[in-house]
Amino acid sequence: MAAVTFPLACPPELTITDIEHFVAGNLTADHFRAFIANPTHHVFKAVDPATSSIAGYALVIDEEPTDPDVLAAITTRPLTMVSKMYVLPGFHGRHASTGLMSAALGHAAEVGSELVWLGVNQKNPRAQRFYQKMGFEVVGHKTFRVNVSVCNDFIYARTPRDDAT
Ligand SMILES: CC(C)(COP(=O)(O)OP(=O)(O)OC[C@H]1O[C@@H](n2cnc3c(N)ncnc32)[C@H](O)[C@@H]1OP(=O)(O)O)[C@@H](O)C(=O)NCCC(=O)NCCS
Repeated sequence: MAAVTFPLACPPELTITDIEHFVAGNLTADHFRAFIANPTHHVFKAVDPATSSIAGYALVIDEEPTDPDVLAAITTRPLTMVSKMYVLPGFHGRHASTGLMSAALGHAAEVGSELVWLGVNQKNPRAQRFYQKMGFEVVGHKTFRVNVSVCNDFIYARTPRDDAT
């Protein structure tokens, strides 16, 4: 699931090698077992009610950011990060993503976070439009390394509580 959906978020200049390297280093079943076992990491899944198969997932992290661009852009604390938000193409536009984001925002409110933030590639207009619809706004810029390639991201943020979802 993660290997199938990660390339959908990548800008066209990334190579297959970059993408395969990232998937092998970050998105294997072992990585997800570690996410699930980590108390600051929370994996949400969207399930197709017709088949009970997975339609999408989100990884939400309650940790202090380490990226200097994020630290410069966001001073509010405590923070929750929507680290990953991926839906299979057959479920785009069918509210799987809305449900995942509602779960992420609900979690952030429950743990007392004052802000939810995420990074999105500047060449991913569909995801940006989705985040805007969900009440997020651009608060800065950062980079994201995929193997040897450096991608340009927007940093988006919103409070978890003024519910736009
Ligand atoms: C990002 C993602 C979770 C959003 O979920 P979704 O179900 O597709 O979201 P929605 O359909 O509700 O919203 C997408 C919006 O973008 C619009 N859109 C689609 N293609 C677009 C484009 N090329 N330019 C601008 N807007 C676009 C859609 O029309 C829709 O807006 P509307 O509801 O006003 O018509 C999903 O598309 C996805 O998993 N994408 C691949 C992985 C990815 O990019 N993840 C994000 C990583 S940061």
